[in-house]
Amino acid sequence: MNLASFSFPTTTLSGTGALAELPTRLTRLGIRRPLVVTDGGLIATDAFRKLQQTLGASEQGKTWFLHHGVHPNPIESDVHESADAFRSGACDAVIAFGGGSALDVGKAARLLIKCPDLKLAEFRYEDDWSGLPPLIAIPTTAGTGSEVGRSSVVTITTTQRKAVLFHPELLAKLVILDAELTRGLPPKLTAATGLDALTHCIESFTSPNFHPLCDGIALEGIHIVVEALPRAVRDGNDLDARGKMLVAAAMGAIAFQKDLGATHSLAHPLSTLCGLHHGTANALCLPAVMKFNAQRKPGLYRRVGIACGLDVVACPAAEADARTISFVEKLTVEVGLGQRLRDYGVKEEQFDALAAQAILDGCHQTNPVPVTQDDLKTLYRAAW
Ligand SMILES: [Fe+2]
Repeated sequence: MNLASFSFPTTTLSGTGALAELPTRLTRLGIRRPLVVTDGGLIATDAFRKLQQTLGASEQGKTWFLHHGVHPNPIESDVHESADAFRSGACDAVIAFGGGSALDVGKAARLLIKCPDLKLAEFRYEDDWSGLPPLIAIPTTAGTGSEVGRSSVVTITTTQRKAVLFHPELLAKLVILDAELTRGLPPKLTAATGLDALTHCIESFTSPNFHPLCDGIALEGIHIVVEALPRAVRDGNDLDARGKMLVAAAMGAIAFQKDLGATHSLAHPLSTLCGLHHGTANALCLPAVMKFNAQRKPGLYRRVGIACGLDVVACPAAEADARTISFVEKLTVEVGLGQRLRDYGVKEEQFDALAAQAILDGCHQTNPVPVTQDDLKTLYRAAW
């Protein structure tokens, strides 16, 4: 029996000013002493001031605590320190506030709150993870979609490898998508995170597993990104575009519970070995992977093209793919990112090391066509 499992359990509040709902929702969830987990860079932002004002305006007797040391690429100690802060404040819930790193740390800290002796490298899916403290996830970027994801990526100190902690119990109880919180994101970061969301939608839609619910979400996510991302980059105060990008990012991450593809396998080593932003790395590798896939499965991207608003319903398969890939390339340029890996300091001599890491990454296993280590090296060259 091919048993499929479809699950979309996260309550999500979306809208400009949605953060104002937080105190009421905390009360409804019986939360009295939440710990806010965020990164140091956010403390001085308007987004954080809004959170402070909102929590400060809670009804009397309620209080909250803060842990703000999270690194941009989270490490094991971030998770331990958050759990320590939770215990010393006698907290009863976690509010993860920020980009993907703060959200991932806030999520994972709850594992150590339940099991203080747990070594993250030895996390086991099979253990009983029920009864974790509730998580409220509030993103301040629109890209990773970590707020609706069931995994947390943390670098293990001893091995310097990234551990992917995956469990449905890690899901947030409540997600708040408030465009006011992403208003201050600079254009380059808006573009890079937005193209990460687009990559999630395209890779999950074209991955071969059976998940028509995720496919529908992915296609609508693509439609929203191509309409809203250029506007959000052009005018950071366009709250309609900002709000749509937050929703599209969440949709991308919901869709990729289906799976991802080779673009993400290429992108992960570009971040660890060359320091590229994850979204930028995806954006630069995506067209090369699309060309590689389309050559082997003509017509694979026709429906992606239709979601982009292209008239490719009736044209030959190869033409539908080519026009869709060209559209994605132009979008990357339109939102202000470079086109080639060399523009970001990646060196030809690094291809072997990059491909050696990329083949160990699990994402390419659900690429629409299989890839070898040599293919991955060829793809780095094609994107270079
Ligand atoms: Fe991603």
